[in-house]
Amino acid sequence: MKALVKAKPERGLWMQDMPIPSIGPDDVLIKIRKTAICGTDLHIYRWDEWSQKTIKTPMIIGHEYVGEIADAGANVKHKFTIGERVTGEGHIACGECRNCHRGWDHICANNYGVGVHRDGCFAEYLSIPATNVVRISEKIEDDLCSIMDPFGNATHTALSFNLLGEDVIITGAGGPIGAMCVAIAKFAGAKSVFAVEPNDYRRELAKKMGADVCVNPLKEDLQEVLKKHNLIGFDIGLECSGNGGAFNQMVTAMYNGGSIALLGILPSTSPVNWNEIIFKGLKLKGIYGREMFETWYKMEAMLLAGLDIKPVITHKFNVDDYLKGFEVMDSGNCGKVILEW
Ligand SMILES: NC(=O)c1ccc[n+]([C@@H]2O[C@H](COP(=O)([O-])OP(=O)(O)OC[C@H]3O[C@@H](n4cnc5c(N)ncnc54)[C@H](O)[C@@H]3O)[C@@H](O)[C@H]2O)c1
Ligand SMILES: [Zn+2]
Ligand SMILES: [Zn+2]
Repeated sequence: MKALVKAKPERGLWMQDMPIPSIGPDDVLIKIRKTAICGTDLHIYRWDEWSQKTIKTPMIIGHEYVGEIADAGANVKHKFTIGERVTGEGHIACGECRNCHRGWDHICANNYGVGVHRDGCFAEYLSIPATNVVRISEKIEDDLCSIMDPFGNATHTALSFNLLGEDVIITGAGGPIGAMCVAIAKFAGAKSVFAVEPNDYRRELAKKMGADVCVNPLKEDLQEVLKKHNLIGFDIGLECSGNGGAFNQMVTAMYNGGSIALLGILPSTSPVNWNEIIFKGLKLKGIYGREMFETWYKMEAMLLAGLDIKPVITHKFNVDDYLKGFEVMDSGNCGKVILEW
């Protein structure tokens, strides 16, 4: 089968002929229709410090996909029909640790990643435990099904706190996940959504996703923006940039007692103004992946109820042109990029 392989420990990604993966008794084989490129795949493509520490080459990468059941192991055969459309959760939980037992599979102590710690979906076929397979209503089109994983990150982040009637600030609001947070926050009844994003293309994307106010942090001062809109501070912050400066600006712009969900992966050495967090009585929540599978139910329900996240898909390529897809991701002038198999 065709597969996109991180074949060598250097920048790049290579299309190679690989054997169709085998399945165990509890696994399914999925024939891939569409995949989406995640920021994680871009890190692996660039071969940055994190990838060098994490990825063992050769590895088929990718974890965002939609496909159809091609085969199922003996223990799970009765659960699936050949040809039925599915997507899947990209984190595999152990099912045995204390957190798994209390229903916190998303923060399983032994959690490992599809396309990171084991072969992923950038291939004609993917083998995955049946417990990770998710069926999505046929009313939801394939393109959207292929981005359920990052949409799940956005849903988990945005719905961490009750947004109804609240003033919300999103940093990194034009990145694919931040942009989906914008749409979810509006859908969930936020009074206002302020989108902070330095990239012009992406600030425009945040606008398309429904942001009430777009802020360029390179040119505008958040305190001035607050004054202009007669606000003392924000009730809810969704940090989706992974930029330490953006997080500190958010903290300064929060109203006393506000809540912040932290999705962006901040540099561990990034300085934080702890006094401001303490004296304002702010609440911070770290977000990892998607709640299994509560986030998935919420995603499907919101899409069926009319939430529109389609503008986040800005580019589509045939998989043979995958390098074009990675180049546009590398440029930053894009939302989600889909590769068709
Ligand atoms: N916690 C998790 O489980 C999880 C899962 C997926 C992604 N992530 C992380 O979440 C973040 C968002 O993911 P993504 O794929 O949308 O990433 P992305 O890097 O494409 O988007 C980040 C956005 O932040 C913007 N940005 C940079 N500096 C900024 C600043 N000072 N103020 C405001 N915005 C700024 C960038 O222009 C970019 O558009 C990344 O940090 C990613 O690593 C975390
Ligand atoms: Zn992803
Ligand atoms: Zn576990």
